[in-house]
Amino acid sequence: MMVRGTFSLVILTTILCIIGFSSHALKEDSFNDRKASTFMSQINSRKMFRGINIGNALEAPTEGAWGVYIRDEYFSIIKNAGFDTVRIPIRWSAHAKQSKPYTIAESFFKRVDHVINKSLEQGLITIINMHHYDEIMQNPTSHKERFLEMWRQIAERYKDYPEDLYFELLNEPHGELTDSVWNQILKEAISIIRKTNPIRKIIIGPANWNSVYNLEMLEVPEDPNIIVTFHFYTPFEFTHQGAEWVNPSPPVGRKWTGTEDEKNQIRRELDIAYEWSKRHDNITLFMGEFGAYSKADMESRARWTCFVAREAEKRGIAWCYWEFCSGFGAYDPIRKKWREELLDALVPRVEFYVSVETDHGSFTGEGWYEKGSYATIRFEEVKIGFPIAYILDHFEGLKAEDRIVDEKTVEVYVDEDRVVKAVWRKDYTLLILLIFILVCIISCVVIILYRKRG
Ligand code: GLC
Repeated sequence: MMVRGTFSLVILTTILCIIGFSSHALKEDSFNDRKASTFMSQINSRKMFRGINIGNALEAPTEGAWGVYIRDEYFSIIKNAGFDTVRIPIRWSAHAKQSKPYTIAESFFKRVDHVINKSLEQGLITIINMHHYDEIMQNPTSHKERFLEMWRQIAERYKDYPEDLYFELLNEPHGELTDSVWNQILKEAISIIRKTNPIRKIIIGPANWNSVYNLEMLEVPEDPNIIVTFHFYTPFEFTHQGAEWVNPSPPVGRKWTGTEDEKNQIRRELDIAYEWSKRHDNITLFMGEFGAYSKADMESRARWTCFVAREAEKRGIAWCYWEFCSGFGAYDPIRKKWREELLDALVPRVEFYVSVETDHGSFTGEGWYEKGSYATIRFEEVKIGFPIAYILDHFEGLKAEDRIVDEKTVEVYVDEDRVVKAVWRKDYTLLILLIFILVCIISCVVIILYRKRG
C-alpha cells in the first residue's frame, strides 16, 4: 500500500513538473513576436554639411551645351553617396528678356522646377544661384534692374517651396561689381526676396570672385537667415592647371603633396573666413565651391580635396565640391561610377565595430562594417547542451532599425559601434523526461519485486 502511494506521488510530481516547465517556456515571447527595443530616432538637423555642385549644366548657355544634362537619377546617386546638399548653378540671364519686365521664359522655369523637385524629393538641401551673369560684372549700373527683376520672379515662383530650397544671389561677383557696388545691389535684392520669402535662406558672398580676402568688405544685412559663401581654389596654379577657360592657363604637372607649407597656406586662408565669422556673430559660412581640375594628377587632387574638406569641417564650415560630373567631376557619367579616390576624399568611409556577447553557442558576423550598412549576426544553433539544454531566447541591445531574420539570425544596423547580447535560457525538459523515465523504471522494478514477494 505504502509503495503504491509513493509510486503515485512520484508520477504526479513528475507530471506537474513537466507541465510547469513547458508552460513557462510557452510564456516566453517567440522570436517573431518580440519587438526590438524602441529608441529615439535620430533627429534630422537639416543642416548643410557636405554638398556637390551640378556644374556645367544649367549655367551653360543652354543645358547640355557644355556636356552636362541633369538626369533625374543624379540626385539619388548624390544622396546615396553621403551628400546632403546640392548646388545648382543657373544662367538665368540667358533665359530672360533683355527688356522690361525681363520675363524669364516659362519653359526654362519649368525645367528648373523639375530639377529642384527631383533634388528636394531626395531630401537634399538645394541651392539655386544666379551664375555667369557676365554682363552685370562688366556693367552693374545698366544690369542692376534686370538682376533685381529676375530675382523678383524667381522668389515669387518658389515662395511656397520647402525651406530646404536656398537662394544664392550671384556667383563670384567681380570686375566692375566692386565691393561697394555689390553691397548696394545685394541689399536691394534681399529686400525684394524678403517680400515673398520672409525666412528663406539666402546665400551671399564677397566680391573678387567670392574671395576670403574680400569678406572684410562685405556688408551683411541684419537677417538671421543669411549664409555667407566663399570659394576656395588655393593654390590656383595647382587647382586650375591646364584650365582652358583661364588665360594664361597655369602649366600642368604641378603636384600637391601636402607639405607643411602647402597645408599652412590652406589653413591660413580658411582661418581668414573662420575668424571673420567669429567677429560677425558666428554667421554661418559656406564654402560653395572648391575642387581641382582633372588635368592635375589624381593622387594630388584626392589629397588636396581631402585636406581642404577636413580643414573646413574642423572650422564648422559646410562645403560644396566643384563639381559632380564634368571637368572636375567626382562622378564619371560614362562609366556611371564615382571616382572612388575623390569620393573617399569628400565623404570618408566610416566604419564601426559590431560585436556579440554570448555565454553559449558559436556565431558569425562580428567585425568592422561601413556606416549605414547591416551586419548579419548568425548563430549556428539555437539549442545546445545535455541534459540541461540552453535555448537561444532573444537578443538584447537591438534598435528599431535592426531586423530579426529568424530565431538565430539578426541584421544589425551600423550607425555606431554596436554590441548585441544573446540571451539564453535553461531548458529542463529533457532532464525531466529522463527523471520521469528513471522513476518509471524504478517504480516498475519496485512493483515487480513487491509482487514477487507477495
Ligand atoms: C566658377 C566658374 C565656373 C568654373 C569654376 C572653376 O564657378 O563660374 O564656370 O568652372 O569656377 O573655375
